[in-house]
Amino acid sequence: MMEPDLFFSPAQSAGTQPDPADWRARAAWLRTELNRHGHAYYVLDNPTIPDAEYDKLFRELQSLENTHPELIAPDSPTQRVGGAPLAQFAQVSHSVPMLSINNGFAEADIVAFDRRVREALKTGDEVEYATELKFDGLAINLRYENGVLVQAATRGDGATGENVTANIRTVRAIPLRLHGSHPPKVLDVRGEVLMFKSDFAKLNARQRDAGQKEFANPRNAAAGSLRQLDPRITAHRALRFFAYGIGLLEGAEMPLSHSGLLDWYVKLGVPVCNEKAVVNGAPGLLEFFHGIAEKRDKLPYEIDGVVYKVNRLDEQQKLGFVSRAPRFALAHKFPAEEATTVVQDIGIQVGRTGAITPVARLAPVFVGGVTVTNATLHNEDEVRRKDIQIGDTVIVRRAGDVIPEVVSFVPEMRPSGARQFVMPAVCPICGSPIVRLEEEAVARCSGGWVKCAAQRKGGLLHFVSRRAMDIEGLGDQLVEQLVDKHIISTAADLYKLGLTSLAALDRMADKSAQNVLNALEKSKSTTLQRFIYALGIRHVGESTAKELARHFGNLDALLHASEEQLLDVADVGPVVARSIMMFVANPLNLELIEQLRAAGITWSEGTPESKPKSLQGKTFVLTGTLPDLSRDAAAEMIEAAGGKVAGSVSKKTSYVVAGEDAGSKLAKARELGVPIIDEAELLAIIAGQG
Ligand code: IVH
Repeated sequence: MMEPDLFFSPAQSAGTQPDPADWRARAAWLRTELNRHGHAYYVLDNPTIPDAEYDKLFRELQSLENTHPELIAPDSPTQRVGGAPLAQFAQVSHSVPMLSINNGFAEADIVAFDRRVREALKTGDEVEYATELKFDGLAINLRYENGVLVQAATRGDGATGENVTANIRTVRAIPLRLHGSHPPKVLDVRGEVLMFKSDFAKLNARQRDAGQKEFANPRNAAAGSLRQLDPRITAHRALRFFAYGIGLLEGAEMPLSHSGLLDWYVKLGVPVCNEKAVVNGAPGLLEFFHGIAEKRDKLPYEIDGVVYKVNRLDEQQKLGFVSRAPRFALAHKFPAEEATTVVQDIGIQVGRTGAITPVARLAPVFVGGVTVTNATLHNEDEVRRKDIQIGDTVIVRRAGDVIPEVVSFVPEMRPSGARQFVMPAVCPICGSPIVRLEEEAVARCSGGWVKCAAQRKGGLLHFVSRRAMDIEGLGDQLVEQLVDKHIISTAADLYKLGLTSLAALDRMADKSAQNVLNALEKSKSTTLQRFIYALGIRHVGESTAKELARHFGNLDALLHASEEQLLDVADVGPVVARSIMMFVANPLNLELIEQLRAAGITWSEGTPESKPKSLQGKTFVLTGTLPDLSRDAAAEMIEAAGGKVAGSVSKKTSYVVAGEDAGSKLAKARELGVPIIDEAELLAIIAGQG
């Protein structure tokens, strides 16, 4: 925390007019502080002060510079924003060309690359490689002269790019002045400008609210933001930067290796991504690739592969270039996550709660490593907003395990006969009317599970799922057959199944049928939380089920609870309370519960919680490494004291408990003004002394 006596501002110090030299020192100190905190936040991903504190210092510097314009320095954080809009970007010719890089996809490509490198270096030994990420953004050249950022240029055609200096100055991750007292005379830092996934989502939400066009992906958003003629727009676009290369260097020794170069950049205050390594030979390359592939989804930014570079710069030089790409580097790319294909039709899918999801039926397309024929369009509004029509050529995206979705259509390719999607008036499965309540985004089949086989199937699949009753062996196809052949209609019917009826189904043998029966038997002994969750009450997810079980202690107390009593439960708001009331008001649901109990499903019942615990109603988010407690231990203590632990920060979060290396959750907490506490403060609150 800041020492309060370090503050003085023209307003506060009226009367004791300080020496102009003091103003100068104060401005310099503020500049250093602000740059230090900015570096910690944007480069080290390790924030050091709350945003509000930062803003306070920033405003102090701004007002100092306003009254004493002679104090303004080019590297002052206040000088990032400003510049007037340009008519067009000026051309910049690169002192050293900005090259592209060859791609490989299969392991064989990587092995062949390593073999070519060894042959060219005439070595039998394993070659040392620097491995890093292939960022999905835009390449940029940053020119520093005597440590000061003087020019930034896009790659362009590799020989000539565009001067985007005013825009790049607004990127807080990029230092306006290099750290250290002996900067090189000229240094061209090369790297990638990109947008983090979370910032991309926020930008698109803003665009949507403003009725403006959304960006298809973070790469387009980064490119669109950097190529703004008005730097004031760029300033609001949360761009980031990672360095991975060098152009011209004068007045300093070139490091001996690529990894040495990156280490030097870190010392100069230039952002370098942590996901990098130095490895040996093709096996080392492949190990890095697989490690990154595994954590790709969890990275805060998008990548489209990894990059391998021969580590020693003298060896790089020996290898040289073929046409426009270096022989010393290779990009090992992931299968593309986006592809274009044609929407042949738009159908609908009916979910467990009757929710109708429009689904694009696609001409088969290979994307994200699999062939995709269906992609979700989420809901009717999304279809309209994205203006997707039958016959359109669309961009389909399948990232990781996420279900494939239609991102956008290609306007130039819309055929004259393209047709709009029309939400059907009745459910195609059961014929019941489809209704859409005014305040809801989704339309629903009004048939309920009694009438609608799709809802029955969805409900049954939910009931047997791992986090509900955990009945192994009862998958999609089995449930489908059981419902379609009218063998069962409710969850209670599952417990009436016999060996012969099961074994008679397609793809079932005596052995697998017996396994299902065993799993059903085993599931009878469960917990109240699982049982409540398994009922599939709308808006009652796993964590709400847990709260309900803990609060009421037994099922009858829950079933007889009034709306006010429900609202007393942590996690339960008016929407959830109403949904539970509606569920309980339906005699068919009560009958189902009775049948399930009669089938022998049991759990240990307790008494309702009486005395409120210290953390009752409080939600915590844990981030970073705490000094003493493991994450699990901290979560257990919070829950034992009646609190809740959530995975992400929202306005409802009571506290964020931050440890070392806390990242985006901490930033989010600041943004939302959620109180941030450390381990000691957490323990004090648990002990009721907070
Ligand atoms: S090195 C001499 N390293 O990929 C090699 N490029 O096709 C110059 N890129 O335009 C590029 N991550 O935009 C290099 N770690 C990385 C990269 C990377 C992304 C992009 C860059 C360049 C393109 C090369």
